Amino acid sequence: MTLASHTLAGQFNPFNGFGQANIGLAFFGNGLCALVESDLPYSARLTPDGDIETLGRHDFDGVLSVSMTAHPKVDPETGEAYAYNYNPFFPPFQTFFKFDREGVKHTDMPVLSLSCPPFIHDFAITRKYTVFPDTQMGVNPMGVVLGGSLVGLNPRKVPRIGIVRRDAGSGCEMRWFDVPGCNIMHIVNAWDEEDDDGNDVVVTVASNIMSAEHFLERLDLVHGLMEKITINLKDGRASRRPISAMNLDLPAINPAYIGKYSRYVYAGIADPMPKMSVVGKLDLAKRVGIDRCVVTSRNYGPGSYGGEPFFVARDPEHPEAKEDDGHIVSHVHDEKVSETRFLMMDAKSPDLNVVAAVRLPQHVPYGFHGIFVRDSDLS
Ligand SMILES: [Fe+2]
Repeated sequence: MTLASHTLAGQFNPFNGFGQANIGLAFFGNGLCALVESDLPYSARLTPDGDIETLGRHDFDGVLSVSMTAHPKVDPETGEAYAYNYNPFFPPFQTFFKFDREGVKHTDMPVLSLSCPPFIHDFAITRKYTVFPDTQMGVNPMGVVLGGSLVGLNPRKVPRIGIVRRDAGSGCEMRWFDVPGCNIMHIVNAWDEEDDDGNDVVVTVASNIMSAEHFLERLDLVHGLMEKITINLKDGRASRRPISAMNLDLPAINPAYIGKYSRYVYAGIADPMPKMSVVGKLDLAKRVGIDRCVVTSRNYGPGSYGGEPFFVARDPEHPEAKEDDGHIVSHVHDEKVSETRFLMMDAKSPDLNVVAAVRLPQHVPYGFHGIFVRDSDLS
C-alpha cells in the first residue's frame, strides 16, 4: 500500500502529521522536542519517574506551518536556535528562520533561488553566517506519493553550499558557491575566519558522502569522508581538504563550540555504514590529509556497534575548562547477546577509557540522534 492509497482510503491524513519524530531531539526555548524533517516538531517532556511523554505536534502557536529540520542549531552564546524547512511540492522549496532564546519564532526567510526541492539534512551556523549544503540529492515528491523513495539523485547537478548572514533581512541574500564532489550529509561545525586581506572566509567541517549514488539503496557502500571546506566570500573560491581517510559519520563536538573554531571532533567509524564499530577522537590541530587527526579511538569489541557519540562537558560553567574536558556518551549494542549498554567514556583519556556502563532494557536503533539535557534545564 502506498501513501497515496492510505490517504485515499481515509486511513491517513497528512495534515495530522506522520507521527514518527524519530530522527533527532532538540532543547531550546525551555522546550524539549522530538524531530523529523518531514513533520512539525513533537513537543515532549520528562515525567517525574523518568519516562518521556509526547505532548503533541508543536507549531509554536501557529507560526510554524510546514515542518522543521531534525538538526536545528542552538547558538551557545546567544541561546538563539536556527532552523529551516523545505517544501517538496512548490516554491519556496526552502525557508529558514530562527527562534529567540525564549523560543519565539521569528520571520520566515524563503529562499527563492532554488529551482527544485533540495534534500538538506543538516546545516551549520557560524557567529556571522548560516551554511546550507545543496547536494546532488533532492526530494522527489511523486516518489513518496507512489510508494517509492522520497529522495532522488541528480548526477548532473554540481553540489553547492549556500551562505547567508544570520541577520539577513531576506532569503534572497543567500549566496551559492559551487563545491564539486561535495555531497554533505552531516556537518561537524563551521566558523568564521579572514583571509590575508581581511575578507570573510567560512570554514565548514563535514562528512562528505562518497559515492552518493549508493546512499539511497546501498548504505553499506557509502564512505563518509571528513573534509574541511573553505569558502572565500570575496572571490567565491571554494577548496576541500580531507581530514581523514577513515569512514566517519555521526560527528559531535563540545556543544559550547558550535559556530566557532572547535579543535576536537568525536565520530563513529563505520564498519560499514550505518554500524559504528569504533568511536574516534579527531584533533583538527594536527596535520590534515592523513590519519594523524584521529588521535585516539575505542573499539566496541566483536559484534558490538555504537550509535551517535555525544560530548558532555564535565563542568560546562567553568570558563577555563579544556574543550575536551568531559565525557563521550553513546549507546552500544552487542549483537551477539542482543544487549544494549549506555557507555560513558573519558574524552581526555589516552584510550577513551570507559568510566561507566549501564545496561538498557531495549535496543536503540543505530543512527538515531540524541541530546544531553540536564535536570536544571528541564526544571
Ligand atoms: Fe542526521
